[in-house]
Amino acid sequence: MSESARFPTLRTEVAGVPVQELVARYETPLYVYDAAKIEQRIADLQSFDAVRYAQKANSNLAVLDLVRRCGCVVDTVSAGEIERALAAGFSPHGSPPPIVYTADIFDQSSFELVLKHDLHVNCGSPDMIDQLGHVAPGRNITLRINPGFGHGHSQKTNTGGQQSKHGIWHEQLADCLLRADRHGLGVTGVHMHIGSGTDLEHLAQVCGALEQAALTVGRSVVSISAGGGLPVPYRDGETYVPLDQYFELWDATRKRLQDAFGHSVSLEIEPGRYLVAESGYMIAEIRAVKRMGDNLFYLLDAGFNNLARPILYGAHHPMSIAPADGDTRRGELEVVVGGPLCESGDIFTQEEGGFVCRRRLPAAVVGDYLVMEVAGAYGFVMGSNYNSKPLAAEVLVRDGHAHLVRSRQTFEDLIRGERIPAYEMA
Ligand code: LLP
Repeated sequence: MSESARFPTLRTEVAGVPVQELVARYETPLYVYDAAKIEQRIADLQSFDAVRYAQKANSNLAVLDLVRRCGCVVDTVSAGEIERALAAGFSPHGSPPPIVYTADIFDQSSFELVLKHDLHVNCGSPDMIDQLGHVAPGRNITLRINPGFGHGHSQKTNTGGQQSKHGIWHEQLADCLLRADRHGLGVTGVHMHIGSGTDLEHLAQVCGALEQAALTVGRSVVSISAGGGLPVPYRDGETYVPLDQYFELWDATRKRLQDAFGHSVSLEIEPGRYLVAESGYMIAEIRAVKRMGDNLFYLLDAGFNNLARPILYGAHHPMSIAPADGDTRRGELEVVVGGPLCESGDIFTQEEGGFVCRRRLPAAVVGDYLVMEVAGAYGFVMGSNYNSKPLAAEVLVRDGHAHLVRSRQTFEDLIRGERIPAYEMA
């Protein structure tokens, strides 16, 4: 799997369903997920003993249900994600644990749910070990270690090194083992995740660091986790990490640990982006085409309230035009693509640091659709209600059938919980 990507700039369908049909049924902005792509990505990782889906990438219940049916287990980072996992049919117990809570803290609600359902915890701080051990001694835990280095597609997605708040600092491992011991907690596994959207070179460095940490923990280790971080191509020419090579590196690490411990060690991977990014399309309607000096703007009915990655990281998403009249004979031109929000940063064509750039796209008119591609990971889930915009609808397409898996929010949803207090003005 090292083919390089080529993204279309014109399209008439998404996941085999005509764009016209999707927007007529569900309106815009609309997220559409192609189930076949998710199933394919899960199949790619079958050499690993467990594929633990990092649902933060896309936690729609229909996506969780699909990955569960395809044999994945799931990672959770909050009470809400635990509730979602349970609602999607993951059972609290099993081997490997179907649901794992991985975080750097317990808040009250996640702590209560972990205790109530006796969920497996992957501790990312010494305090978590003490807090859990204090009320629930005798359990098994795993430890998330920060190996002292990290790497991501952006500094904001680098989760290793001393600038990162994530995991147990590698030099504190011995202290954490003492803490666990004091509470009678068994340490059955070691986990490392150095960042999101990284590359093979950095991912490969994790193997050695994890091996060292597992040897320090010793024979109680029965599972290791390579974390997530597998990149996907977002631009023409970008390639995938060669998965065979990646698996070989981890398998060799696992085998050395098995030899050292004299028992089998299972190997987990924890991808979010890799499983869902390419399945997702965000369809928006072009509502204005206007010139500002040298720049031509396409303004959409979707903004960073729907897809925040460009404004947050300067992330590049491939874009295509779906002509409303179906006529795909369009010339191309350089445009800036923006959204409807009352904030000048609401631009989809920007680089890290907020610098606006242009994109070569087909000529379009008001009423055409613009499809934001590779938007299935960290897309809808990072949406907001800024400018009192409702969250978009979500649709899952499987075998050519489109299923609405989340309705567009209504005004009632937007103001739920708000109150106008009764008081007299002086
Ligand atoms: N495991 C842990 C402990 C993580 O913190 C993450 C991501 C993953 C797995 C999944 O990483 P992935 O396979 O998706 O790279 N919002 C950012 C990404 C933040 C990732 C946070 N943690 C973005 O849009 O690029």
